[in-house]
Amino acid sequence: MTIELNNRRYCSDLSLDLNNQTVELAGWVDTIRDHGQLLFMHLRDRSGVVQLVFNPEDNKDLHHQAEQLRSEYCVALKGIVIERDDEAKNPHVPTGMLEVHVSDLILYNKAKTPPFLISEKSVAEDEHQDFNVDEDLRLTYRYLDLRRHSMQHNMITRHKIMREIRNYLDEKGFIDIETPVLTKSTPEGARDYLVPSRHHDNCFYALPQSPQMFKQLLMVSGLDKYYQIVKCFRDEDLRPNRQPEFTQLDLEASFIDETYIYSLLEPLVERVFKLAGKSLQGPFPHITYEDAMNRYGNDHPDLRFDMTMVDVTDLLKNVNYKIFNTIANNNGAIKGIKVSNKASEMSKNMLQEELAKKVVPKFGGKGMTWMKVIDGKLESNIVQFFSEQEQADLIHALEATDNDVLLFVADTNKALVNDVLGRLRLYVGQKWGFIDHSKIAACWVTDFPMFELKDNRLNSMHHPFTQPDDSFMRAQTTDDFLAVNSRAYDLVINGEEIGGGSIRIHDSDTQAKIFQTLGMTDDDIKQKFGFFVEALTYGTPPHGGLALGMDRLVSMVLDTASIREVIAFPKNRVAFCPLTQAPSNVGNQQLDELKLSCVKNV
Ligand code: AMO
Repeated sequence: MTIELNNRRYCSDLSLDLNNQTVELAGWVDTIRDHGQLLFMHLRDRSGVVQLVFNPEDNKDLHHQAEQLRSEYCVALKGIVIERDDEAKNPHVPTGMLEVHVSDLILYNKAKTPPFLISEKSVAEDEHQDFNVDEDLRLTYRYLDLRRHSMQHNMITRHKIMREIRNYLDEKGFIDIETPVLTKSTPEGARDYLVPSRHHDNCFYALPQSPQMFKQLLMVSGLDKYYQIVKCFRDEDLRPNRQPEFTQLDLEASFIDETYIYSLLEPLVERVFKLAGKSLQGPFPHITYEDAMNRYGNDHPDLRFDMTMVDVTDLLKNVNYKIFNTIANNNGAIKGIKVSNKASEMSKNMLQEELAKKVVPKFGGKGMTWMKVIDGKLESNIVQFFSEQEQADLIHALEATDNDVLLFVADTNKALVNDVLGRLRLYVGQKWGFIDHSKIAACWVTDFPMFELKDNRLNSMHHPFTQPDDSFMRAQTTDDFLAVNSRAYDLVINGEEIGGGSIRIHDSDTQAKIFQTLGMTDDDIKQKFGFFVEALTYGTPPHGGLALGMDRLVSMVLDTASIREVIAFPKNRVAFCPLTQAPSNVGNQQLDELKLSCVKNV
């Protein structure tokens, strides 16, 4: 028997407009319900499910054939769309008003019992499912995991986002240009993945950490507005929202400044969230790196809630509370946050035993001090050490009112105070419901320092191609260099860095001085970046750009637990692929050809 499938419909194409019409469908058996006489089945394809009915009175052989089917068998069928009886209608499923009475059936392939349940038939389109299956098992059978409706929804939404981006950038005159994957190292702060060359003894290609230098070279070429949705590879320490290979929307434009990038990106981000029915409105607020560190404790502030950190060091220079006094007079910092209207809910025991003794030490802090505002006065186990004036000053500085709780972290290390209190802010914000999860709060973080100290050496905070401010060419000492700001900007959404970029250096002298400042010798510069510095001498236009982390963006749009949920075949938490078992050993012959016999298998 044949069923004409080239014009088959998807399950979700079926509606009552097709009532009494014959349709062809193909897909997988989702669930089976045997009602003695009638056999009901759900057919699943990538669009959804539809109910099939096999009636022995219509066709005994067919009914018998259908009785042999099991979940995940691959089938095609022909049948008639019939409106369901009113009592059988199911408003929770898009095709719940109808069923298909099957007249012909082809079984293409049986399936072994899958290692986990694939059917999600009862789950409505936009509902998140609690899918408590071990992630490595899911990744081992990723092709089955991807059969699940929610994973297909993730993949399809990812596709729609990519398409929206391409359309938008095409409208804005951007050209999609591919850059090499087998290339030379581009510094983005991670280690390179290396690929040995068979034709060039002892030589390696590096997989790109980003197309940074190539996109700048395209600006030298006059290609003016470039973009690419591109894989990048970074061998870095494993963290939840990182993958060794990930996808960037990478773009660059000439004759532009920061405001061009902001006004290009904001409507794009709005359009991307709109695809999932979520709205956010530009212009996005700007916050300097320094303000972000001081007020939120990190350079990727979560602006979905306030609870900003307030510096009270100067108010407490003469306080009788010894720890605070010592810190305030030894160039340290005392900073606080206000937890609004929670004094009655946050017990003294919890504040002391849990927050001060467990949570804050886990964040690297030595301790935490708390105070409650009750009847206009502060209450806590140490409040007697604070004068009336100091108490009034604290209430005023934190704009506190009755039933608020004030949490303070103090240390001689100011950076540690910011870090610990910033983490505590997020912890309290999350645990006591201050974060509005329906909100999307985007901002631009600007005015980053150009350099940071790492192992006592100057390092680029972003990357060495970022334009420094005017003070750079005059800078001489390490302190001078640390005071230089750059023209870099990060796009932060809901407390996560989604993208970053900068206006670039476009003259070779500044670029060479940057490399020298980073401690590179002339030979190093020539060997690693000679081609690039040379290119800058041929009439390079002013230019700048940015890259968005697409896995992070899509994951945020879909509100998934990790970026792995929006990548078809991700690596697991330890950078391993349980499906293909990569990375894996290779044969000695291959190692010999690559002159890598030093790693030979024994
Ligand atoms: P940057 O290094 O900030 O900038 O990267 C841009 C964005 O890429 C995402 N990202 C990652 N996502 C998943 N896994 C990773 N390992 C990972 N690393 C980075 C982040 C980040 O914001 N060449 C510059 C861009 C430019 O200057 O134009 C660059 O790559 O969301």
